[in-house]
Amino acid sequence: MTRKKVGILISGRGSNMMALVEASRATDSSYDVALVASDKPAAPGLIWATEHDIATFSHSPKGIPKAEYEAVIDAALRDAGVECIALAGYMRLLSDDFVARWRGRIINIHPSLLPKYKGLDTHARAIEAGDAVAGCSVHIVTEELDGGDVLGQAEVPILPGDTPDTLADRVLAAEHRLYPKVLAHFTTR
Ligand code: GAR
Repeated sequence: MTRKKVGILISGRGSNMMALVEASRATDSSYDVALVASDKPAAPGLIWATEHDIATFSHSPKGIPKAEYEAVIDAALRDAGVECIALAGYMRLLSDDFVARWRGRIINIHPSLLPKYKGLDTHARAIEAGDAVAGCSVHIVTEELDGGDVLGQAEVPILPGDTPDTLADRVLAAEHRLYPKVLAHFTTR
């Protein structure tokens, strides 16, 4: 089976990217990580990727039009032969144009049980609402923020005394289990 070439976009720590890379090292993986790219040249995840022999690329959007920045990222992804994109803590909205160019080939992990809590501060909002469960979702990226079809979800309990930080840790551990499975499935369909 030919492995799909995946590009991963990150903005920071990149722990989901690490989980995806580690899963790609399995002999029966359906994908390879062809590039890890970032809008933040100092993103810690870039260092980890380099140390693990993954090609990296970064370009700051500061001071240039969004279209110009995205054209640079798009070219880097295409030069690396990327066929689909996994967003992993990429904290920048993609333009409608970029989404259209990669229609149906971008997925994202979001720290809530979509359609609940699109956007930011998901854990604080779930605790504030008195929810008994929280979780994460992997979805297709469309022009609507956190709005595309959901491909997979994982639930975790919200425990008495949870803070947004303690809940975030529990959700993150669930993300690391969920995202590789969903990407594996996505790259075989
Ligand atoms: C993850 O919890 C991810 O779900 C979230 O950012 C974190 C990134 O962590 N993404 C979003 O909030 C996107 N809207 P990581 O850099 O360690 O993977």
